[in-house]
Amino acid sequence: MKPPASVYTHCDELDKLPVKNRKNWITESSLICTLLKPNASVLQVGCANGSRLIDLKQKRPDLHIVGIDIEEDLLSDARENAKNAAMNIETRLCDITVPEACAGLEYFDYVLCLNNTLGYIPDEEGALANMRLLGTQVLISVYSDQFSDELAREYFQTLGLEIQTIEKNRFTLKDFTSVKRYSLAEVESWGGEITETPLGYLCIL
Ligand SMILES: C[S@@+](CC[C@H](N)C(=O)[O-])C[C@H]1O[C@@H](n2cnc3c(N)ncnc32)[C@H](O)[C@@H]1O
Repeated sequence: MKPPASVYTHCDELDKLPVKNRKNWITESSLICTLLKPNASVLQVGCANGSRLIDLKQKRPDLHIVGIDIEEDLLSDARENAKNAAMNIETRLCDITVPEACAGLEYFDYVLCLNNTLGYIPDEEGALANMRLLGTQVLISVYSDQFSDELAREYFQTLGLEIQTIEKNRFTLKDFTSVKRYSLAEVESWGGEITETPLGYLCIL
């Protein structure tokens, strides 16, 4: 298994990503900045090295943002990156699928799960249930058919990963966890309001 932090840190290196993934990342951030009400409290699930938190805070300094992740190395990078950007960002080590861990978090106006992060979490139902408990609105952005097999190969290569097999919407990666992309029907089954993004959908629950 590759060290997860060494892989995930590349998810937010915009200048190295394929153009479509970069465009998707930027579109997600723009949509979110427009949607969040002033002075809102925000939880980002899977904040990794804090790039998105810093980007959001630069664009919306009024927000109170907390990031969670399961990789302590990434959270340590996030704290360092925030310090270098002269920002105060809170991070916590927390697995979104573990109710006891989530119980230690406060209640937020918004919970964000972006850039297909849900597709990396094996216990998707647990993650969805806990996110719904943690905030008034949950914003989930996932990849769908627009994230083609060809693009997936290019994207995972930039993360240092190699695809072993593709079965319908699941990518099995060499020495790493498998990753899922989503059908529209599946996203619709969550019962939220759906906006199209360059690589899939943003669903507001
Ligand atoms: C695709 S990357 C996140 C992308 C990114 N930070 C962004 O803003 O677009 C997925 C992140 O989710 C984290 N993660 C995976 N499973 C998790 C879980 N069960 N609970 C919390 N974070 C998790 C990983 O460690 C990784 O940093």
